[in-house]
Amino acid sequence: MSNPIGVFDSGFGGLTVARAIIDNLPGEDILYLGDTARAPYGTKTLPQVREYALECLDFLAGQDVKALVIACNSASSAVLHDARERYDMPVVEVILPAARRAAKVTKNGEVGVICTAATAVSQSYDDALAAVPGVQLTTTPCPLFVDFVEAGITGGPEVMAAAREYLLPIREAGVDTLILGCTHYPLLTGVISYVMGPDVTLVSSAEECAKEVYAELTNNGLLAPTPRTGTLRFLTTGNPERFAKLGRRLIGDYIDEVESVPLA
Ligand code: DGL
Repeated sequence: MSNPIGVFDSGFGGLTVARAIIDNLPGEDILYLGDTARAPYGTKTLPQVREYALECLDFLAGQDVKALVIACNSASSAVLHDARERYDMPVVEVILPAARRAAKVTKNGEVGVICTAATAVSQSYDDALAAVPGVQLTTTPCPLFVDFVEAGITGGPEVMAAAREYLLPIREAGVDTLILGCTHYPLLTGVISYVMGPDVTLVSSAEECAKEVYAELTNNGLLAPTPRTGTLRFLTTGNPERFAKLGRRLIGDYIDEVESVPLA
């Protein structure tokens, strides 16, 4: 018996984090909440995102979860400074793990981050990397990327055209490391790495967050006893049928039934 890990995103992007957690910790139960009724978050003001994010996190905290994962860069940016104090359990977010990894990986010190407008405005990646000597950050919001993913479009000429345009300033800055600073973007890894070329290392905030979840559970003695296969439960504030259909298209058969939560 083990309590679940509560994972939250504005919609489908956090599924990339959930999948990374499943890969690293297959014995853990996961309770996923996608606030699809109010997505996208990335185009909203930080106070608005903060209000929605805390409402979702409060809901998950009330479901007997043992840890909270803010699987959304926009939400992490909006609640970064106080989510840890608010809850009596480990809270893992996506910004610091990805920033730390990028600082380790870069050789020329030129790091790029692509993200939503909300994350760019918050300057959370600038803050996270400010203390690292010799690192310059180039930030570019890519608003259409979330719309494409939420519509189930992860390739094709439209996405390629948008990627070429968005990634131009990042390429011109000569980055050798690019943070995918939105949890929707790992679903566009093919096109992003095609446009950036083989010499640029992509850092996924989803992958780095999953490693942090492993570390937090281990350090707090909260790992589920093994061997066991974890259960997965998916909740949405939007339409459950739509969530199930698109969610399966994006991460496969991990998603069975989807339940509705009347938060929005
Ligand atoms: N997946 C979210 C992030 O990491 C944002 C998507 C949205 O705009 O709702 O920033």
